[in-house]
Amino acid sequence: MHDYHVAVIPGDGIGQEVTPEGVRVLDTVGQLTGAYKMRYDYFPWGCEYYLKTGKMMAEDGLKILKDFDIIYFGAVGFPSVPDHVSLRGLRLPICQGFEQYVCLRPSVLLPGIKSPLANKKPGDIDFVVVRENTEGEYTGAGGRAHRNLKSEVAVETSVFTRLGVERVIRYAYQLAQSRRKKLVSGTKSNAQQHSMTFWDEIFSDVGKEFPEVQTDRVLIDALSARFVLRPESLDVVVGSNLFGDILTDLGGAICGSLGLAASGNINPEREYPSMFEPVHGSAPDIFGKGIANPIAMVWCGAMMLDFLGEKQSANLIMQAIKAVTGSGKVLTPDLGGNAKMKDVTEAIIGELRAIAG
Ligand code: IPM
Ligand code: MG
Repeated sequence: MHDYHVAVIPGDGIGQEVTPEGVRVLDTVGQLTGAYKMRYDYFPWGCEYYLKTGKMMAEDGLKILKDFDIIYFGAVGFPSVPDHVSLRGLRLPICQGFEQYVCLRPSVLLPGIKSPLANKKPGDIDFVVVRENTEGEYTGAGGRAHRNLKSEVAVETSVFTRLGVERVIRYAYQLAQSRRKKLVSGTKSNAQQHSMTFWDEIFSDVGKEFPEVQTDRVLIDALSARFVLRPESLDVVVGSNLFGDILTDLGGAICGSLGLAASGNINPEREYPSMFEPVHGSAPDIFGKGIANPIAMVWCGAMMLDFLGEKQSANLIMQAIKAVTGSGKVLTPDLGGNAKMKDVTEAIIGELRAIAG
């Protein structure tokens, strides 16, 4: 029996609603398999905390989080606080401060889910995006000057380092090697002649270590078209921070709903805790209605268990999710159903018990 110390940050909006659902599933699976027990510490960080304290998280937040095994994160951002403030005050400092340089985002069309793309069935869409997560377009380098003058200027500099590019690309190769051995790199070296040619060179250099992996270098605009036209041709996709951000909303959309899209911010060396959070964000428009889709958060729990080495428990959760979507009876409104969030969690727990016997 493993014992894990989990930092839980429900954050804002529907993050506060779906997080307890994810926790319920984690606890249920721990009881059913007897493989682990989770001890949770909750942190009330986010926009409400900011309105009270002027900070998105405790001053020594990173120090507090550092010794946890893992972080389970709901969402950040609410209309009461400018988005760049909330993001740069909570999620980005954690991703950057803890060297969570891989943002891992699976795009899988689940059984029973209708893709907006015609004639796609489960199995046709099954790929993972590896998004660079600490630098690139999100580095935060830049500034504004001559405010409110005609000459006002804003500069936001993308920063690509050999260390940063190499490590995320190597991770993507390793992942491809363990899957169907196909890796696509999203680039834009036709227009971005400095950073993206650098990216391309490193992509090709690191590739020499992985002769079995078949590679493809695709301009990001063409790659987004390929997501729509030929998603079955994708296995692992690697891209810079912003490219990966854009591609993964598209990845979520073609798999039927952003309410299904899970994500992990990973420090592969395990020097710092990794953090698992759904892609959907705080969704203020449906907050408080009890209709958020808990599946992305539950799926994040499965990714988290997988990362912790609890493969059997992670598989169990994925089987239960697939059983629920496959039966098509208990679905939230984002999937065309009229179930409430809690009905979906109940259904998942029912399936877990059934599968575990
Ligand atoms: C995501 C989100 C964030 C990002 C936003 C909230 C800044 O879109 O996790 O994909 O761009 O990283
Ligand atoms: Mg995004």
